[in-house]
Amino acid sequence: MKNFGLSGISNSIILHMKVTVVGAGNVGATCADVLAQREVVNEVILLDIKDGIAEGKALDILQKAPIIGYDTRTVGVTNDYSRTAGSEVVVITSGLPRKPGMSRDDLIGINAGIVKSVTENIVKYSPDAIIIIVSNPLDVMTYQAHITSKHPRTKILGMAGILDTARYRAFLSEALNISQKEIQAMLLGGHGDTMVPLLRYTTVGGIPVSELLDAETLESIVQRTKVGGGELVKLMGTSAWYAPGAAAAQMVEAIVKDQRRIFPVCVQLQGEYGISNCYLGVPVVLGKNGIEKIVELKLNDDEMALMKSSEGHVREVMNVLDALNKK
Ligand code: NAI
Ligand code: 2OP
Repeated sequence: MKNFGLSGISNSIILHMKVTVVGAGNVGATCADVLAQREVVNEVILLDIKDGIAEGKALDILQKAPIIGYDTRTVGVTNDYSRTAGSEVVVITSGLPRKPGMSRDDLIGINAGIVKSVTENIVKYSPDAIIIIVSNPLDVMTYQAHITSKHPRTKILGMAGILDTARYRAFLSEALNISQKEIQAMLLGGHGDTMVPLLRYTTVGGIPVSELLDAETLESIVQRTKVGGGELVKLMGTSAWYAPGAAAAQMVEAIVKDQRRIFPVCVQLQGEYGISNCYLGVPVVLGKNGIEKIVELKLNDDEMALMKSSEGHVREVMNVLDALNKK
């Protein structure tokens, strides 16, 4: 993106910026909708394999523009990757969501094949795109996209941490009866029941949360956060989409606007936190190059033990993927 300073005019002109969202289901369509409504980019391409669904949802979002008032152009396509060419960022949401009784890991068989073929097509038409994975099992689908794309790890990002911290922050806000805008939190590990919400790094208006809530309440909020996705699956018979779609859009915004915000993002670790060749959520600085920096927190023994347990779980599922890819 280039800005042209015009003499005497303080505003800048932003060149054309295009983002593709693959999968026009619940999460993908929500992500496209948030990107359009917030005018994060000029053009959003929504792609799905199912005939007409992406075209229909993109048209619906376009027709909402005069009511809400935004200028982003949304275009839907059925499996035509040539229309995605030149995307700055691509969000992959294609794949099955879980049903009640399923874990995210149960989705690996079908979703690995989908993420692989989608990534191949994306890289063909947008070789420089930064790719954000949303499909589950998240950490291992990030691994799949990484090995398929052969991109540097800074350009293959998994979305889960923003969603998981948003759930945690929402629960804290309710318990405290304080605006969610005041609540800052960080979380590590895989996107699953082994995730590691970090109480020591949770503040409310700059005040450590442990000064405002008792240990028992905090523990129950941490436990509810860990199974936050499952709570929604039980209620709705499928997984969540409003918060996940908005979370992926927030990552896109941080990248295309080079905001350098700190978020928990799933990335391949190469020695950080004493872990190598594993895909886990850690705090990163997000900017125009994707992951600008991985932030290494000084974990205490308990936090490190939880991180290691999460690593062990993700590695098990990575091994399942390796076996599938050898078939
Ligand atoms: P959905 O079923 O509503 O939408 C999935 C869409 O993907 C469908 O429209 C389907 O036609 C499309 N699709 C399937 N194969 C495709 C292919 N080869 N190419 C293009 N499109 C294809 O599912 P939903 O609720 O949108 O969830 C999508 C994925 O995101 C699931 O795997 C779900 O588990 C995951 N998810 C991850 C979250 C996270 O925090 N990382 C949060 C919520 C969901
Ligand atoms: C969620 O956490 C299912 O990963 C999805 O809502």
